[in-house]
Amino acid sequence: VAAEKGGYEHFMLKEIHEQPKALRDTMLGRLKDGSVVLEEVDLTLEQLARINKVYIVACGTAWHAGLVGKTLIERWAHLPVEVDIASEFRYRGPIIDDHTLVIVISQSGETADTLAALREAKNRGARVVAVTNVVGSTVSREAHDVIFTWAGPEIAVASTKAYITQLEGMVMLGLYLAQVKGTLPQEKIGEIITALKLIPEQAQEVLNQEDLIKELAQSFVKVEDAFFIGRSLDWAVAMEGALKLKEISYIHAEAYAAGELKHGTLALVTEETPVIALATQRDVYDKTISNVKEVKARDARVIGLTYKGNTNMAKSVDHVIYVPETIDELAPLLTVIPLQLLSYYVSVARGCDVDKPRNLAKSVTVE
Ligand code: G6P
Repeated sequence: VAAEKGGYEHFMLKEIHEQPKALRDTMLGRLKDGSVVLEEVDLTLEQLARINKVYIVACGTAWHAGLVGKTLIERWAHLPVEVDIASEFRYRGPIIDDHTLVIVISQSGETADTLAALREAKNRGARVVAVTNVVGSTVSREAHDVIFTWAGPEIAVASTKAYITQLEGMVMLGLYLAQVKGTLPQEKIGEIITALKLIPEQAQEVLNQEDLIKELAQSFVKVEDAFFIGRSLDWAVAMEGALKLKEISYIHAEAYAAGELKHGTLALVTEETPVIALATQRDVYDKTISNVKEVKARDARVIGLTYKGNTNMAKSVDHVIYVPETIDELAPLLTVIPLQLLSYYVSVARGCDVDKPRNLAKSVTVE
């Protein structure tokens, strides 16, 4: 087993470090001459013209990737998207017919609820695209179209490299839909692709700050509650950050839309509650900073997460973690990495079983 961990103490740490490669492998051969080529997806303009609604359905971390996918598809392909938890989807009577596109996201491709949602969607005439990490998995065999994430086998229960490649899959699918529908100028697609190609290298730059994050993690050892806040895509990543911390360190963590805090949750914020504030999205940056000031006013310790070169955030928070600058839609691919490392080192410092957290399974094959 030690050899399988490639010199790392845990599979999770190894998998966090494999992310630049996973990102590279997943884009390989798919970004050509300023356009996206998805060989296992075959949606024509005629077929897409019929689609008036998109559902993204998944569980756990994959559902968080879906939340990012929603914004990308709405913004780029101008299609309305709803994101559902697979165990809720079938029971709320979603309106599905042959005008519906259903995207299921599943690392394993075997999650029972996700599979059941896929089958139901197909029965009702929807077109189903799967994003999965396992070739030959049930989800990959039953969906009409597949985007494989090339993260390689993920062993740690807490998902890291699979999630990052699911995000990348959503970026490529969003661009693909926009390309077929013609909703984004070719030049804009080219710009996004250029930025996407830089991401693996930038992810490595984030990983190089590991020692800093490890040090920060030591201050979480005795923490009982933590909040993650952000707006827009930062909020989606905040949810993943909170889930990681809960899963492996057993600290109660919650993610909140930064603007929603004052409608209740702010009552829980004291000097004992660290707040991790994500602030990359430029269109809501100033608003997010106002929310950061609200929690600072309650004496919370705030750790900011923003782009390198932004010297403004440091004035409002206690520590700042920086990620390289990119276009806002790609920021989740970078901001999630420090959050994964933070959870990892908090878990280690608290003496938890990092790779096999209590009560959790890697793949849930019961409904
Ligand atoms: C389990 C795992 C999670 C994962 C979820 C969905 O709960 O512990 O890490 O996100 O299942 O799994 P899937 O294989 O469908 O992505």
